[in-house]
Amino acid sequence: AALWLLLLFSAHLLLRRASAIDRGQFPPPTSFLFGTSTSAYQIEGGYLEGKKGLSNWDVYTHKQGTIEDGSNGDIAADHYHRYMEDIELMHSLGVNSYRFSIAWTRILPRGRFGHVNPDGVAFYNAIINALLHKGIQPFVTIFHYDIPHELEERYGGWLSPEIQKDFGYFAEVCFKMFGDRVKFWVTMNQPNLLAKFAYMNGWFPPGHCSKPYGNCAFGNSSIEPYIVGHNMILSHANAVSIYRNNYQETQGGYIGIAVAARWYEPLRNTTVDQLAVERAISFNVPWFLDPIILGDYPAEMRKILGPTLPEFTLKQKKKLHATKLDFIGLNHYSTWYLKDCIFSSCEMDPMDGDARALSLAERDGVPIGKQTGAPFFYDVPHGMEKVVMYYKQRYNNTPTYITENGYAQASNSSMTAKDFTGDTERIDYISGYLTYLVSAMRKGADVRGYFVWSILDDFEWTSGYKDRFGLYHVDFKTQKRTPKLSAEWFREFLKGSLVSR
Ligand code: NOJ
Repeated sequence: AALWLLLLFSAHLLLRRASAIDRGQFPPPTSFLFGTSTSAYQIEGGYLEGKKGLSNWDVYTHKQGTIEDGSNGDIAADHYHRYMEDIELMHSLGVNSYRFSIAWTRILPRGRFGHVNPDGVAFYNAIINALLHKGIQPFVTIFHYDIPHELEERYGGWLSPEIQKDFGYFAEVCFKMFGDRVKFWVTMNQPNLLAKFAYMNGWFPPGHCSKPYGNCAFGNSSIEPYIVGHNMILSHANAVSIYRNNYQETQGGYIGIAVAARWYEPLRNTTVDQLAVERAISFNVPWFLDPIILGDYPAEMRKILGPTLPEFTLKQKKKLHATKLDFIGLNHYSTWYLKDCIFSSCEMDPMDGDARALSLAERDGVPIGKQTGAPFFYDVPHGMEKVVMYYKQRYNNTPTYITENGYAQASNSSMTAKDFTGDTERIDYISGYLTYLVSAMRKGADVRGYFVWSILDDFEWTSGYKDRFGLYHVDFKTQKRTPKLSAEWFREFLKGSLVSR
């Protein structure tokens, strides 16, 4: 009898598991989400408060010469103390969703080597509850660049497969603590860009760079970005499978990933530049989404990188296959011209990885689009339609959220709020990109939401506080928030939009 019971119970478990996996592949709801987007390190501050542990960014920004304006995120926009005011700002805009990230070190100050920190859990509970109270759906990124410093020290962070356990553990704590109320999970933000910035051109912690991209203070191997990418993909898969198997069915939410989705156009009307565009695309989003959705790295990458690109074992492939996404998050800002560097002699751009290509802003002296306030970002609205339609086709119209899109104004220390509030360029930018997004949707792209980066001016990583992306201006001395014209515009826009409030 005991044996029968055991058999019955295992059959029950197997069935449960199978149904959880199927259930997880149901697409998210069709009601459109309109929101704003932020990340923990960029706005929270309170870096030593609430028994938080030190993150890799806390340590990195305190080293001299890492951040252009010598600043750090110790205080940032002080959202740690002002989250209620900020949620009120969002509510006043009429958004129905807010994308934000959870600081790993607030929840697990020492990764899986320490305890779950009740103060950190309480902080995000307060945010989530306040959002729901205002009718705003939390859209939560589990990891947006900040890892516990201890994991970097112990085993080299993303360079080690050990991180898969830590990431799975962190994700599970998030599902357990917040999943009763959070229905949208983004496992990671822009891992495709992070692997390059942190291990190829040395801009983000741990500041490694790789051949052939310049003078590396640390590292100097061209394999690191791809090892890191591999560990990120498997960490993502780990988190998704934990959610599918143990939480999704009971909690009824959706899980995806957000990637940096650049767009390219060939510089010249030649086959070599067209091929360079194809390579650069592969080394951008498909580097991550092909394995996650289609089961392996793109052929173009394998051809160029050979054994430098790790292989998935059969077991890992099975795991990837079982963890298909509920949605894709695309962060899209700009388009560049691209020049081939295999057949033409040119110095490749680390941003294009080993695609042996160079991104350029101009053709015959004519820029690809209007220059924005952030160096390297151009206002090229039709790029939105191109990028969405391309991934619609490549990934079989997986439900898509534009998890970021936004415009930066350049600043200097003598400027005040009134220098920023007449931001008609931002309105042009956002409305232009939205027009092309709608055009992609009319052509059948399954887009379910759009998030402006960002509600507030914030800490823009290595640019410090110079690049201002906010719909609200922040005076970082007084922490006063002032609406820019774009905030008023977005409010009016949302009144006539699909948002159900
Ligand atoms: C991408 C990143 O996810 C975000 O952290 C950053 O601030 C914006 N884009 C603007 O560069």
